Amino acid sequence: MAVLNVNIDHVATVRQARQTDEPDPVWAAVECELAGAHGITVHLRQDRRHINDRDVELLKKTVASKFNLEMSLAEPIVKIAERLAPDQVTLVPERRQELTTEGGLDCVRQQRRLAQVVRRMHKKGILVSAFIVPETDQVLASAEAGCNAVELHTGAYANARKDRLVERCLDALREARDTAFSAGLIVHAGHGLTYRNIGPVARIEGICEFNIGHSIISRAVLVGLRRATEEMIRLIQSPPE
Ligand code: PXP
Repeated sequence: MAVLNVNIDHVATVRQARQTDEPDPVWAAVECELAGAHGITVHLRQDRRHINDRDVELLKKTVASKFNLEMSLAEPIVKIAERLAPDQVTLVPERRQELTTEGGLDCVRQQRRLAQVVRRMHKKGILVSAFIVPETDQVLASAEAGCNAVELHTGAYANARKDRLVERCLDALREARDTAFSAGLIVHAGHGLTYRNIGPVARIEGICEFNIGHSIISRAVLVGLRRATEEMIRLIQSPPE
């Protein structure tokens, strides 16, 4: 059965809005775990716009489920990951001006650097996932670079409005899953997933982990983080028709 990692970056976004010490992402991680989340995901960005060094140090010590660190291939961040040794890293592209991660990591163009980073993470016993658009060449390049998993970018699916486009996006995800399986990769998915659009993606067999942030944190403002997490787990594990 597929599991949920809650991305708690935006708890830190609220804290940083006032540059204070609340809400604390470490407390948020505990709430998500109490609700049954199988993992906690954070993105330590180079500009530290939300999650910071203190957060990742404490989360490494306190997360009892899976600690998944999203990160770019930038050397200072790679060094932090080596020292921290989270359970999993998800390698993502990163641009300073973007509001959120745009597009997938270009594993074809960056294959040499990717392979280097993968080797370094493996030396520390860290599972490596690459966040990629659902395209054959990206899946194959991730496998060749030695990744254990790919996280298929669901942003295009989430943004699609017309039924035909939605179906095409779902086909692309299913095809990428098949290619990933034949290359021996584990398949995750995430980005732009919400309580409304999770159903059809959750029904794709073989996607074993979802990373979801903005929608859960948004709902948590109104219903609380524990309930918001529980509701998303229910939708992932028993997707409505
Ligand atoms: N997966 C990856 C690799 C991401 O970069 C993000 C955004 O930080 C997410 C999942 C979560 O996306 P969202 O906040 O849209 O649920």
